[in-house]
Formats: sequence, C-alpha cells, structure tokens
Amino acid sequence: MNANRITLTRPDDWHLHLRDGAILATALPATARCFGRAIVMPNLQPPVATVAQARTYRDRIMAALPAGADFEPLMTLYLTEATSPAEIAEAARSDLVHAVKYYPAGATTHSESGVTDLRNAYPALEAMQEHGVPLLMHGEVTDPSVDVFDREAVFIERHLAPLLQDFPALRVVLEHVTTRDGVDFVRAAPPTVGATITVHHLLLNRNALFDGGLRPHHYCRPLIKRETHRQALVEAATSGHPRFFAGTDSAPHHRHAKESACGCAGVYSAPAALELYAEVFDRMGALDRLEAFMSFHGADFYGLPRNRGRVVLERADWTMPEEIATAEAPIVPLRAGEKVAWRVRAEVEDRRAS
Ligand code: DOR
Ligand code: ZN
Repeated sequence: MNANRITLTRPDDWHLHLRDGAILATALPATARCFGRAIVMPNLQPPVATVAQARTYRDRIMAALPAGADFEPLMTLYLTEATSPAEIAEAARSDLVHAVKYYPAGATTHSESGVTDLRNAYPALEAMQEHGVPLLMHGEVTDPSVDVFDREAVFIERHLAPLLQDFPALRVVLEHVTTRDGVDFVRAAPPTVGATITVHHLLLNRNALFDGGLRPHHYCRPLIKRETHRQALVEAATSGHPRFFAGTDSAPHHRHAKESACGCAGVYSAPAALELYAEVFDRMGALDRLEAFMSFHGADFYGLPRNRGRVVLERADWTMPEEIATAEAPIVPLRAGEKVAWRVRAEVEDRRAS
C-alpha cells in the first residue's frame, strides 16, 4: 500500500512523559493534537506513587488541555518498594489509574525512588495480578558490570522471565523494547505480555548517537541499538502482531539539560510522532498495518474501547523547527531542522466519541 492520504482511527500513545508546569503546557498540545489517549508516565519529582497524587496530576493535565481538545490521560502509579497492596486495590477501583510503572532504581531519569530488587515489590505485584492492573516495565538491569547496550537482554533473562513464572496471570508490558532479544521474547511469551515500540527506536540505530559528533538529542534510555535490532523492531511493528503497539516515550528535556556534560536521557518526538511512525510503515510498504499498531493493539491489550474518531494523514513535506519554545527554555524535538514526510491534517474528523 502506497497511498498519499490515509485515514486512521484516532490513535493512542501507550507510553508518554508529559511532565508538569511549563513543559506540560507545551508537551500536552503536541500529543493531544492527534492522539485520543495516552498512558502518562509517573516519573515526576516526587513520583506519582499514590492514587491521590495521580488524581491531582490528572487535574493539572486537564487544566492544561487546550480548549476543545479531546484527550484522555490514562494515569499510572510509580512502583516503589513501599507500594502497598491496599494502594493497588484503590488504583484498581479508581477510574483513572490504568497501570503501574516499574523503574529499576537508577536506570533512567527520575528513577531514584524505583525498585532495587523486584522481590521487595512482590506484595504489590500479587495485588496487581489479583486486581488485573498491568505492570509496565523499564526493562534494563542497572548492574554496572553489564555493558550498557546489553542491559535489556540481561534484564529479560534475569528478571522478566522469572517474574512471568512467579506471576503467570499478571499483564506485563515490556516498555520501549529496543532489541531483537526483546521482540523474540514477547513473540514467544503468553498473551499476557505485550511491548511498546517508540518511533525513535524504529528510525535510528546507534550510529545516530555519533553522527558527525556527539548527538545528545538522540540519547535516551534504553539506548538506541545496532541496526539488526532496529530491523527487528520494524519487523515487529509492521508485522500486525497484536501484542506490539505504539508508545512514543516522548520525553522532553530543556535544550541545556541535554546539551550538557552529563546530559539527560529522552527524545522529544511528540511534535511529529504519528507522522514519523507513518514514515516507517510507508518505507516498509505497510501503511495498511499502521492503524492496528497505532490505534487497536494497545487498546485491546489494556481492555479499553478503541477510539471512534478519525485522523487524516497526508504525504506532504514540512520542516520540523530547530527548537520549540516553552515558558522556561527551549526543547529540541526529534528531526529538528529536518524534513518530515507526512502531515496530520489540521481538522480531525469525527472526534473520539467513546
Ligand atoms: O530516555 C528516557 N527518558 N527514558 C526513560 O526511561 C525516562 C525518560 C524521561 O523521563 O526523560
Ligand atoms: Zn519513558
């Protein structure tokens, strides 16, 4: 399929960092312009660790939504070693918390309050299994003796495989899968296991970290990997397999926080995320599978209704700005100053009705 214009069911972003304050005010409209819902990551400071905190964060998001926008934030809790079964039960009863996020302590941005040993979180995981609350995993070990490019594969072997043995009914998402190992594992896993795939891991291999010099805006966790892994991700995303779905991991940081001697991890893809996913599928001749990956598989995995509205994508070149202003400092988006080959039409037909 090689159309110049495609219409999709309004998509969802199953892994998104919206932040707070001035960055929220910029990042939220960039996603809400075309996504119907997003799983909102809880790695604020302090983390969103309770249902009460998730509720007030959700209120701040709703207050920052542009007038007329039709967007539903799906909130998550940050798993700590103190997360109680009672908090999980409350999350399951609430109509706003949809998952719990596991960060290995020290693995990435604002992961200091994360888990040092998954066994310390077993009471919470038991409750999640019982109440049907999905566990979203940042799948990297933090063991300094493991090469940083191997940390996902080692995580799967050391932690994910045993976890699935111990919690066979727990729904688990391997977030931002980055390797062939991860893709193969998810394909072979039971239907309780899914994976999100970011657009930057589909577009870039690790050469992009060093292209003509050090490229801090391509630095994220887990790292982008070598080409064979990128190809495995593209095959998985475009295969139509129902347990792979879109999660941008769009993670804005101010320019100065990335262009630094110790720069932050995160790629800000929201301003062209849907358009760039379309590029990937277009290159593979798989535009006919884009809708399922963007709009169906994630909703089905979470047991939520699919969106009802439509988004129109057109093949049309435009140039991503070099930077995007916030009330504080600018953010450099993915593809800054470069061409994007698809455009979302301004009007979104028949907005989400469910
Ligand atoms: O690159 C990343 N940035 N990976 C994460 O896991 C966190 C995220 C962030 O919050 O900036
Ligand atoms: Zn993330």
